[in-house]
Amino acid sequence: MKKFLALLIVGLIFSFGQSSVSAQGKILVAYFSRIGEEYGVGNITKGNTAIVAEIIAQKTGADLFEIKTVKSYPNNYDECTKVASREKAQNARPELATRVNNFDSYDTIFIGSPIWYGDAPMAIYTFLESYNFSGKKIIPFVTHGGSGLSGVDQRFTLACPDAEILQGLAVRGSVAQNNSVEVEAKVDEWLAKIKIDL
Ligand SMILES: Cc1cc2nc3c(=O)[nH]c(=O)nc-3n(C[C@H](O)[C@H](O)[C@H](O)COP(=O)(O)O)c2cc1C
Repeated sequence: MKKFLALLIVGLIFSFGQSSVSAQGKILVAYFSRIGEEYGVGNITKGNTAIVAEIIAQKTGADLFEIKTVKSYPNNYDECTKVASREKAQNARPELATRVNNFDSYDTIFIGSPIWYGDAPMAIYTFLESYNFSGKKIIPFVTHGGSGLSGVDQRFTLACPDAEILQGLAVRGSVAQNNSVEVEAKVDEWLAKIKIDL
């Protein structure tokens, strides 16, 4: 009996030790999102991607970080499309106004953005090129007006070849803006599928 108890205690200590060893490092949800006149949702005061980002951060216990550009984008939708299409044509790298503190302490980084012209806004590539993502997990999520993920996962792989890119999530902007129950269900299903340690 004594032997059994001793074994049990050793086993318990070992299993606690194991779980702390295998626990993941910190998780970051970094996102870019725009407010103002937006496709299919009118004039919004919280961006579609921001809404999804907050839900992911809340469900994963992650830190939340907004990627902001030095030059803000026009509130007017048509004006914004002109700026965005020019930046994409030029493969621009808009300067960022915000920087992640202690980036090295994160090993899993969700990266969220709208889809602009079938791609992430160019500011997302500025972000990807501003840090060392090698050995980290990147998990893309997007909101869109119909184009879905649009291959951003593949472009992230090209931008960060030494990171592991996990399966992304695409949510329609109108759903993000108007149907929190559906967004939560989608996020839950996706988090269960990608199986990150929380
Ligand atoms: C400049 C611009 C370009 C866009 N291009 C696309 C596109 O190519 N495909 C698409 O499905 N939606 C497109 N949209 C719609 C946005 O992806 C969608 O409304 C998104 O949810 C906006 O997210 P946000 O509120 O976080 O900025 C575009 C919107 C803007 C402003």
